[in-house]
Amino acid sequence: MKIAVISETAALETRVAATPETIKKLIGLGATVSVEAGAGKNSGIPDAEFTAAGAHIASSAKETLADAAVVLKVRRPTEGEMALMPKGALVLAVMDPYDSPEALASMAKAGLSAFSMELMPRITRAQVMDVLSSQANLAGYRAVIDASSAYGRGMPMMMTAAGTVPAAKVFVMGAGVAGLQAIATARRLGAIVTATDVRPAAKEQVASLGAKFIAVEDDEFKQAETAAGYAKPMSAEYQAKQAALVASHIAKQDIVITTALIPGRPAPKLVSEEMVRSMRAGSVIVDLAVERGGNVALSKAGETIVTENGVSILGPVNLPGRIAASASALYAKNLFAFLETMIDKKEKTLAPNWDDELVKATLLTRDGSVVHPNFQPKS
Ligand code: NAI
Repeated sequence: MKIAVISETAALETRVAATPETIKKLIGLGATVSVEAGAGKNSGIPDAEFTAAGAHIASSAKETLADAAVVLKVRRPTEGEMALMPKGALVLAVMDPYDSPEALASMAKAGLSAFSMELMPRITRAQVMDVLSSQANLAGYRAVIDASSAYGRGMPMMMTAAGTVPAAKVFVMGAGVAGLQAIATARRLGAIVTATDVRPAAKEQVASLGAKFIAVEDDEFKQAETAAGYAKPMSAEYQAKQAALVASHIAKQDIVITTALIPGRPAPKLVSEEMVRSMRAGSVIVDLAVERGGNVALSKAGETIVTENGVSILGPVNLPGRIAASASALYAKNLFAFLETMIDKKEKTLAPNWDDELVKATLLTRDGSVVHPNFQPKS
């Protein structure tokens, strides 16, 4: 049972899918592990640490992938990488399967069993495998760190002999995993924090972190959560009411962090150009949803835009990758926890149970076909 870990080739991808800790555990389960030279470099893991954990360091992706039964990755494999993977290999990664029928068809054609980690059900047993949570938590933290460094004033109130620095006012839009960590981080830095969400469950969570909840709490709001715990798309009427409430609030904020997402859909637009213009010079907006279409009217992926009225809008790409050592450590643990369920510990062999609910929920392709019901090719 050979497990391969190759270097990530996507731009700005600094993470790696295994750490010395997870490699030791995999070897304990009977695997041999091959890591491409330099794969951990951007996460602060030198090859020597992988070797000390028992991995073999291979000089190329080709050598790493030869005869692999399992491939651990951060991003969906490229066509070039797929060509190097043995038929029948299990590939675990963040596959970003939405709107990508060609990529799914290619993985099927390559004979791979491709698992999309972000489709992991949010049930108790799978919490340890939840890559969306582990990475969003770090993204929320990092967004506040980046915002505070772009903000030309202090975050906490400071009373000094030379005068008082007022506490920054931080508004977090979307109080899911990333938003809640952003709230907690901004609070730790001493900011005055408010937050909004369309899910009623968020209200109590926001309050428990010491922030004030701001939302239109009508009948639609009371039913805005799906059984899976995600937000539903809101009606145009609700969005108009929400925008009116947000508009008057945003004008008084120093930092706005937006994290609102709806799975498989473009991010809801929450901050208009007019709202940006209402903010004072020196204010900072961080749009965490920028890669999914953005919550903020002017944000651009990978860029910082400074508006005419002096507001900086940050559109960070791959925020977890900006805290790569921590992100890789948690991501690698998520992958290990899932892979462990597919290993027969007595026989020390790979033995996926294709009927397991976690396997069924995440498996995109197998034996040459796209098998996931949500991603069937349109005929
Ligand atoms: P997400 O990343 O899909 O969305 C982020 C947040 O944006 C959500 O809270 C969502 O309600 C909010 N949002 C969507 N549209 C909005 C709008 N128009 N205005 C304001 N906010 C809007 O969500 P995430 O972070 O993945 O978490 C969703 C829920 O799942 C949370 O309640 C979280 O606590 C829960 N969860 C449960 C887990 C479990 O194992 N049971 C594990 C992780 C999260």
